[in-house]
Amino acid sequence: MNSYIESVDFFKGNDPEDIVATYGTPVYVYNEDIIRKHMQAVTKVITRYPYTANYSIKANTNLSILKIALEEHVNCDAMSVGEIKMLEKVGFPYGRIFFVPNNVSNDEMQYAIDRNIMTSLDSLEQLAQYGELNPGGKCAVRINPGVGAGHHEKVVTAGKKTKFGISEEFIPQIFETAEKYNLRIAGINQHIGSLFMKPDPYIAAVENLLRIAKQFEDLEFIDFGGGYGIPYHKLDDEPEYPMEEFCAALEPILDKFVVEYGHAPLFKSEPGRYCVAEGSVILSRVHAVKENNEKIYVGTDCGMNVLVRPSMYDSWHDIEVLRDGKVVPRTDMREVNISGNICESGDLLAHDRLLPGTRKGDLLCILDTGAYGYSMCSTYNSRPRPAEVMIKSDGSVKLIRHAETYEDLFALYEGIE
Ligand SMILES: Cc1ncc(COP(=O)(O)O)c(C=O)c1O
Repeated sequence: MNSYIESVDFFKGNDPEDIVATYGTPVYVYNEDIIRKHMQAVTKVITRYPYTANYSIKANTNLSILKIALEEHVNCDAMSVGEIKMLEKVGFPYGRIFFVPNNVSNDEMQYAIDRNIMTSLDSLEQLAQYGELNPGGKCAVRINPGVGAGHHEKVVTAGKKTKFGISEEFIPQIFETAEKYNLRIAGINQHIGSLFMKPDPYIAAVENLLRIAKQFEDLEFIDFGGGYGIPYHKLDDEPEYPMEEFCAALEPILDKFVVEYGHAPLFKSEPGRYCVAEGSVILSRVHAVKENNEKIYVGTDCGMNVLVRPSMYDSWHDIEVLRDGKVVPRTDMREVNISGNICESGDLLAHDRLLPGTRKGDLLCILDTGAYGYSMCSTYNSRPRPAEVMIKSDGSVKLIRHAETYEDLFALYEGIE
């Protein structure tokens, strides 16, 4: 494909140069329609049984995006009290929030208990802590099913090498702890990892969790976790995650379980990336192009503080080149490294990447930045974080978060006369 942003009319007729003239570069630009479409898709993963999709808001906590989740009948997962507060801010009822923390303090747990937010405990010690704080209460436990999967070892969140969940071998101790504090284990959840492009690992994980579920009596819900991928190599025509095939494969497995278990609990999933990744691009300015040791460096203002995924996970983001607001055709390609403006040699958005001839002054449009993009931004090198804008369904461009200012960088300091 020559251009993704043209093929979906990402900017809805707006000139990207006009957007950056108003909001500067780098800037996160979201497309409301694309986000709504993905949120709607995850609500239909299971239709035959009671089901809710929980958007895992760590992927993107922008309040305007949480508002879309609220409107599209998606529930949400929160990993911290901060994330619960973000959901409160946009009016999420507590019954639509699932708290899935790990290694939290009494105060953090109490925050959820006081609001009757269903909480999943990630270790036997945290389960006992919950029991001390809320004897007779109702909660869930996060199971580590012994197998994980994902696009990088840092996003594999189950299996023998990760910190998450309680291993199956400790299920008797879960029951002992629950009995000691008169806790009702209402649900179990898992999340094996992130970014599958084929349904198989997730389906296998569902089957495995359902096998484990049978050891628990009368569960109210079973949560299979997130991880559905999006095509980060779309310019090379990578196909989308096969949602329909996935949903069809899930059905007979659930049918069998429901018969054997005697009733259908509420099934849940926890997608983050799938809901938001494709709904955002970053516009970034090329400030310098140079050659060092026979390697061309395209130097931009999108540093690893703005998008850390390539440096942290070696992640691939497709990149389109814009000149005077128009996509430069993907002909006359040459191999370049694309770097940011941070003082780290790892500050590379891409290495050995084929781009059409790129010059100072061009805009780079970095695709698929809606998940784990802004939510992982930092102010490293004392660089204020960028603005976020949304192309609304009606084509208007709306600021949804101001860029930080240099004044903001001073906001928390004390003791300087
Ligand atoms: C517990 C939990 N649930 C859900 C998710 C969302 O994963 P993804 O964005 O891959 O769908 C994560 C991400 O790591 C997670 O840790």
